[in-house]
Amino acid sequence: MYYSQELIEEVRVKNDIVEVISGYLKMQKKGGNYWACCPFHNEKTPSFSVSGSKQMYHCFGCGASGNVYTFLMQYENYSFQEAVKALADRAGVPLPEIEYNEEMRKRENRRARLLEVNKEAAKFFYYQLRSPHGKVGYEYLKKRELSDETMHRFGLGYAGKNGAELVEYLRKKGFEDEIIKEAGLASYSEKRGMTSPFWNRVMYPIQDTNHRVIGFGGRVMGDGEPKYLNSPETPIFDKRRNLYGLNYARTSRSGNMILCEGYMDVIAMHQAGFTQAVASLGTAFTAEQANLLRRYTDSVLLAYDSDGAGVKAALRGIGILREAGLTAKVINMQPYKDPDEFMKALGKEAFEERIRQAENSFFFEIRILEGQFDMNDPESKTKFHREIARKLCEFSEDVERDNYLQAVADKYFIGVDNLRKLVASYAAQTGLAKPVERPKSGVQSKNNPQENAKKSQRLLITWVTDEPALYEKIKKYISAEDFTDDLYQEVARKLFEELERGEYHPAKIISMFEDEDKQREAAALFHTSLPQLSTGQERAKAFHDIVLAVKKNSYEYYTAQMGTDMSALNKVIEGKKALEELAKTHISLD
Ligand code: CTP
Ligand code: MN
Repeated sequence: MYYSQELIEEVRVKNDIVEVISGYLKMQKKGGNYWACCPFHNEKTPSFSVSGSKQMYHCFGCGASGNVYTFLMQYENYSFQEAVKALADRAGVPLPEIEYNEEMRKRENRRARLLEVNKEAAKFFYYQLRSPHGKVGYEYLKKRELSDETMHRFGLGYAGKNGAELVEYLRKKGFEDEIIKEAGLASYSEKRGMTSPFWNRVMYPIQDTNHRVIGFGGRVMGDGEPKYLNSPETPIFDKRRNLYGLNYARTSRSGNMILCEGYMDVIAMHQAGFTQAVASLGTAFTAEQANLLRRYTDSVLLAYDSDGAGVKAALRGIGILREAGLTAKVINMQPYKDPDEFMKALGKEAFEERIRQAENSFFFEIRILEGQFDMNDPESKTKFHREIARKLCEFSEDVERDNYLQAVADKYFIGVDNLRKLVASYAAQTGLAKPVERPKSGVQSKNNPQENAKKSQRLLITWVTDEPALYEKIKKYISAEDFTDDLYQEVARKLFEELERGEYHPAKIISMFEDEDKQREAAALFHTSLPQLSTGQERAKAFHDIVLAVKKNSYEYYTAQMGTDMSALNKVIEGKKALEELAKTHISLD
């Protein structure tokens, strides 16, 4: 942490979450909470709630939750330090420079400098494109049917034939060679001194969701190699965690996202009004990018090239999207190569029609599979059917699997019963797929003990934060060590310490974690959906069950550890006693 916990807490307390979020969203008071349409996913009726008493927000639609810091981090794409800084400014809390240690300050300065040098380079390219010097580039983009407005919107630019000009310009602006090199904007050679690898190219600045330039893609004029040259990874340019076009796509509110392969595809799509188009950054689509998309939508349309490489990339993408709990559909671009060419040839309405006809990813996969088999050869055909059965086994939910089974049997003229038998025998050999974890839908497996244990732990934390008085009643049985997940244990420890002191600031606990993913996960712990029960008796029973489940899991966990870790013995003895006592204790919720 750059700042002390006390300071972070002071800044947080001085920024009322309701006031801060009111600056971004139109909220309505209902009951004790404020409500708005969630800024992190697309919706028409408000399921985003902000609690003044807890100083936290939570979306019942997409599960986004956190405190005033995480809100800014999610909404503005700030880092934690940036969020602290913004809120300290807002509340007029001075931030002492001293709290940065030397190395951290250097790192932060470096990031800031890299952003500045990229911004300045983007300006340089931008003016080049619009100067007589950049006529080649400008005409190239015109020929590709981009309007001036589109070029402006994406900040497109041009790097001229002389790779030393950029360096000269940046030096004049006060940038040292070292930072220019680190940004990948130039390199040094004895023969030519400092020159930029970007020359004779139209330049596509790559922006983060906050519209800051974090890198570049440059397309060569004509047929040179490589066709596209991208900035190297730098401390501000993480190719796995950013998407081209997301700075605009995230507010498009179209209900889906369209994933393309190329920069030009994204631009052509946006120009035609499909502002939900994004692309990965000259690298293969990643799980991190899928998670990024999940903040905004649960449905992704793939608009990849129609050639073999595109199909292969689409198959890969489908797998990644599915793992992330997103539904994927594939847009057919035939007879054109990519969205850019499609749009030019057939236009917006035709593409809209293609979106409507987009193929369910499962059928897409099966159709591609079909091409590998000879349907006139019974043996090959049988193999194809076996493959279908194998794929069907990947559905963990019975109903879903059976629906797909019937549909695919229909489509490929396979007897439903035969296919069902095939699936059953396949499942018997290999077992049905482990259900993918779907953080968003909350779909959970009943037979995953570890996940169940974690769920009880989450429920207990939420319940105790909702009714802090309960802490006194369970502390005899439950301690932080009973939370067997590392992060949960840390949260529980912090929460219990606070409650011990008679304090209660769940929102504070979130900011005690430095890592952003951890903050998000910690925040989620305070927002599990508690069982909705009407009678006090039912509620008391549910609570008792949860306490018991947490204790029982912990008992089993430490018992399993005893073989290797003797210190677990105490926990086991204590756990056994607590369990016995709990079994005959009634915990009243009043
Ligand atoms: N790409 C890359 N390096 C290359 C070729 C491609 O990084 N040598 C990336 C770029 O991000 C590009 C994407 O892959 O946008 C798609 O490549 P391609 O289909 O060749 O690009 P197009 O957008 O079709 O290129 P253009 O229309 O400009 O010919
Ligand atoms: Mn193209």
